[in-house]
Amino acid sequence: TTTVIETDVLIVGSGPAGASAALFLSTLGVRNTMITKYRWTANTPRAHITNQRTMEIFRDLGIEDRVLADATPHHLMGDTVFCTAIAGEEIGRILTWGTHPARRADYELASPSLPCDIPQTYLEPTLVRAATVRGTQTRFSTEYLGHTQDDEGVNVRVLDRFSGTEYTIRARYLIGADGARSQVAADIGLPYEGRMDIAGSMNITFKADLSQLCGHRPSVLYWVIRPGADVGGIGAGLVRMVRPWNEWLIVWGYDIEQGPPEVTDEDAVRIVRELVGDPELDVEITGVSLWGNNEQYATNLQHGRVFCAGDAVHKHPPSNGLGSNTSVQDSYNLAWKIAAVLQGRAGPGLLDTYTAERAPVARQIVVRANTSAREFGALFTALGLDTAADAEQMRARLEERKDDTPEGAAKRAAVRAAMALKNYEFNAHGVELGQYYDPAVSSAVVGDGTSRRAPTRDPELYYEPSTDPGVRLPHAWVGDGMRKLSTHDLAGYDGFTLLTGVTGEPWAAAAHKAAEALGVPVEPVVIGPGRAVTDLYFDWAELCGVAEDGAVLVRPDKHVGWRSHRLVDDPERELVAVLSRILDRT
Ligand code: FDA
Repeated sequence: TTTVIETDVLIVGSGPAGASAALFLSTLGVRNTMITKYRWTANTPRAHITNQRTMEIFRDLGIEDRVLADATPHHLMGDTVFCTAIAGEEIGRILTWGTHPARRADYELASPSLPCDIPQTYLEPTLVRAATVRGTQTRFSTEYLGHTQDDEGVNVRVLDRFSGTEYTIRARYLIGADGARSQVAADIGLPYEGRMDIAGSMNITFKADLSQLCGHRPSVLYWVIRPGADVGGIGAGLVRMVRPWNEWLIVWGYDIEQGPPEVTDEDAVRIVRELVGDPELDVEITGVSLWGNNEQYATNLQHGRVFCAGDAVHKHPPSNGLGSNTSVQDSYNLAWKIAAVLQGRAGPGLLDTYTAERAPVARQIVVRANTSAREFGALFTALGLDTAADAEQMRARLEERKDDTPEGAAKRAAVRAAMALKNYEFNAHGVELGQYYDPAVSSAVVGDGTSRRAPTRDPELYYEPSTDPGVRLPHAWVGDGMRKLSTHDLAGYDGFTLLTGVTGEPWAAAAHKAAEALGVPVEPVVIGPGRAVTDLYFDWAELCGVAEDGAVLVRPDKHVGWRSHRLVDDPERELVAVLSRILDRT
C-alpha cells in the first residue's frame, strides 16, 4: 500500500517564491504543505536587494520588522563605487536604490517602506518560520519527483531523502517554486522564450574586514573595472557586501565557451585580493560556486491545476536586484486567487489571470536585467577598454581619462554619460513599483473606459502614482491624531477594500451589501474628517484619481481592480457586477 497525504496546496521549493506562497496561503487560512529538497534553506547569500514593493508585502504580512531586524538598512546601501579595485582608483560613484536626495524623495513619497538589503540566507528562514508558525506543513529533505493531474486535483510523487521512502501527496493545486531548473515547469511543458547559460559567472564568498575602505562610502555594491572584468559575468567585477563590512561575495565572470573553470582556494584568494586591491589582504574563503547567466522567461505560467512562480518562470542575472523580489510578488498575485477559489468565493477563471498578469512582468524583468548587464559595455567603451589588446593597454587607456587634452575631456564626458545609464539598473523605481495588470488582458481588472495615463517622465526610472485600473494602489499617509497609516494598511490581504470620500458614503453601505450578496469580504473605508481615517496631508485627494464621491476598489494584492469616477445611481449593483467579473462569478 502506498501512503497518500492530503493537502489543499502543495508548494515545491522553500526559496523566496515558495516560502512566501506558503506564508500567504497560511495567512489566508488555506491548508498547505511545502516540500523542499535540502535539509535547510539557501546555503549561500544569493539575492539581497529587497525593494519597496516587496517590503510593502512583508508589511502587509506583519513581518516587515522581522526582516528589517536582519537587514542592512537603506542608508548604508547606496554610495555605489566604480573603481579599478576597492583600494584602487575611483572612476565614479552613483547614489543607488533611491539614496540620492532627489530620488530619496521619490522613494519616500511612493511607499510606507524603504528598500533594504537582506541576503537570502537571512530572508528564507524568516519566511519559512512565519509560514510554518501560521500553519504550513514544512517538509525538508523532500524531493518532488513528478505528478499527474485530474479534474479534482494533483497527485505528486515525492521522495523523503532522509529515509529514502517515496510517497504521494494529493493536493487540489500544485505550485512549482523550484527555481531556474524547475522540474515542475518541465513536467507541464511551460513554453519559454530566450536562452539559458549565455555567460558564465562565479560567486566567491569570503570574510575580510574592509571597513577602512568602505565605511565612508557605504554601499552594498562595489564595481571593479579591470582586465578580465568584461569577460562573462554580469557586466563588470562585483564585490558585494553581505554583512557590513566583514562578509562579502564576489561575482567574477568566466568565458563560457571555455567551459567551467576549476577554481581552487588559491585562485579565489588571488581574485579577492585583486578586486579589493590589497595583495596582503587577510581573507577567509567560505565558498566558491559557478552559475550561468540566463535570459529566459515563460510565456505561460500554468497548466490546469499546476502553477509555476519565481525563477521557474523568469531566469536572468542579478542586475537590478529583481529575482527574489519578483518571486515574492508572483506568489502574492497567485495566493489570494487560489484561496478565493478554494474558499468558494471565486470561479476557476480567476486563476487564469495569473498568467495574464504575471507573464508580462516576467518578460519585462528578464529583458531589463539583461539589458542592465549589457549596458556596462557603454562604460568599457567610454573608457576605451573594449578595444584594448591586453591588460597593459587597458591600464594605459584608463589613465587617458586624466589627460588635459580634448580627448581627455571627451573621455570624461563619455564616462559621465555611461555612468548615467546605470540609473536604469540601480534607480529603476518605475520598474520596481510600476507593475501593471492590463484590463484588456486580465479579467481580474475592470477598466473604467479611460485609457492608462501616459507617463510624464521615463517610466523605467520614475514611478508615477495613479489609480488607473490595474496599477498598484498609490501610497498616502492617512489616519488621525493617534495613528499614521499608509493607504496600503487600510487594505487587507484577506479581501477587497473600497476607498471613497465623505460625499461617497453611499458606497460604504453598498459595499457591505455586495459583500453579503457574494459572500466575499469587501471593506469600505471612507477617508475624510470625522470618518474612519483622515487624509492627513491632503495627499490622497491628489492621488485618488476620482471625485470625492467616486470610489477605488482595491484587490487583496493592493492593485486597483476597478474605480468609479463618481457616485452612481445603484452603487450596490455596480459593485456586485464588478466583483462578479473579477472573481469569475458570472
Ligand atoms: P530558488 O532557486 O530560490 O528556490 C528553489 C527552491 O526549490 C529551493 O528551496 C530548492 O531546494 C527547491 N527545489 C528545487 N528542486 C526541487 C525538487 N525537485 N524537489 C523539492 N524542492 C526542490 N539573485 C540576486 O538578485 N542577487 C544575487 O547575488 C544572486 N545570487 C545567486 C547565486 C546563486 C548561486 C543562485 C542559485 C541564485 C542567485 N540569485 C541571485 C538569484 C536568486 O537567488 C533567485 O532569483 C531567487 O532565489 C528565486 O527564488 P525562487 O524561490 O524562485 O527559487
